[in-house]
Amino acid sequence: MLGATGQIGRAAVRALREDGWDVTAASRGGGRDRTWDADVRSVALDRDEEGALASALGDGCDLLVDMVAYGGTHAGQLTALAGRIGSAVVVSSGAVYVDEHGRGFDTQDRPDGAPRYPVPIPETQPTVAPGGTTYATRKVELEQGLLAAGGTLPVTLLRAGAVHGPYCRTPRELYFVKRALDGRGRRVLAYGGTSRFHPVHVSNVAELIRLAALRPGSRVLNAGDPEAPTVAGIGAAVDAVLGRETETVTVDGPPPEGHVGETPWSAPNPIVYDMTAAEQELGYRPVTGYADSLPGTVQWLVSALRDRGWAEAFPAMRRAYGEALFDYAAEDAWLERYDRRG
Ligand SMILES: NC(=O)c1ccc[n+]([C@@H]2O[C@H](COP(=O)([O-])OP(=O)(O)OC[C@H]3O[C@@H](n4cnc5c(N)ncnc54)[C@H](OP(=O)(O)O)[C@@H]3O)[C@@H](O)[C@H]2O)c1
Repeated sequence: MLGATGQIGRAAVRALREDGWDVTAASRGGGRDRTWDADVRSVALDRDEEGALASALGDGCDLLVDMVAYGGTHAGQLTALAGRIGSAVVVSSGAVYVDEHGRGFDTQDRPDGAPRYPVPIPETQPTVAPGGTTYATRKVELEQGLLAAGGTLPVTLLRAGAVHGPYCRTPRELYFVKRALDGRGRRVLAYGGTSRFHPVHVSNVAELIRLAALRPGSRVLNAGDPEAPTVAGIGAAVDAVLGRETETVTVDGPPPEGHVGETPWSAPNPIVYDMTAAEQELGYRPVTGYADSLPGTVQWLVSALRDRGWAEAFPAMRRAYGEALFDYAAEDAWLERYDRRG
């Protein structure tokens, strides 16, 4: 497994071990999860180092699970090794989709660029064109490269929603957890708090990987939780785990000022993935739900923040969202004006 020490990998190794797979857990650091049994082999391997993956594969493997594949280069790398890989499961992203006007994740910051997808989005929804420039175009390039080689290498591509769980490097839940820990009594949510960005818990992705491993095929499937709560619902669920109550001020439409009211889930229109194909093709039944899985994630976040600031604990989160994520001064200034307006 490539990328085994990441959030999905840790859970996927466990799921495959439970099914009796003999697992080699690869990552650049070569680390391991403390829940893995001693039979899981961990290896230090940079898949971008010339020849490293080929030599680690040796005579070959029945299954390659790849968490960190992007673009045509990685598609080419895997297809060149097709003779030594029985089948593969590769993590892609729900960010690939576009709506009927070609709007998607790449256009959402433009005026009128927010996608208006069908609810839910089936795998047959059009995607961005393949390319090397953005995350979405590179994922499509990866997908198309791998699907074209379906005759020699069966690959299940999982288009994951907003991944959540322990060991997440960009944990969206931090938005609400940190505010609660900081004693924030009020929160502001744009778009009426109704934004929905379909989450998927790491153990549900792991379950899809486990099932796809049992039924090799050349296909793309969405990867989502059994439900896609609203951002207001997510805030309330975090409060419930922490035993807090936060007053929510909702604003119709976009953030009223700067990033006030903007969360990692915020979008004007729902992003919900259709899970019918995964159910039908793989017999997918989610192993957990958003609220059920949340306590484990929240506890992990709380302990990660115990002796460090958020940007130090989650540098990838800082890079992705910037300091504006916790700009309480801007939030308070806006709330003060909001209160004065009555
Ligand atoms: N986060 C989301 O909401 C989201 C949504 C949709 C799709 N996805 C997809 O999910 C995948 C990421 O999975 P994740 O969130 O489980 O990852 P993650 O937590 O960021 O972990 C990445 C894993 O890959 C390893 N790794 C990174 N570069 C490597 C390399 N060059 N060679 C070998 N191993 C490498 C890392 O360990 P080392 O650092 O030690 O190498 C680690 O084990 C990506 O394909 C992403 O596009 C994520």
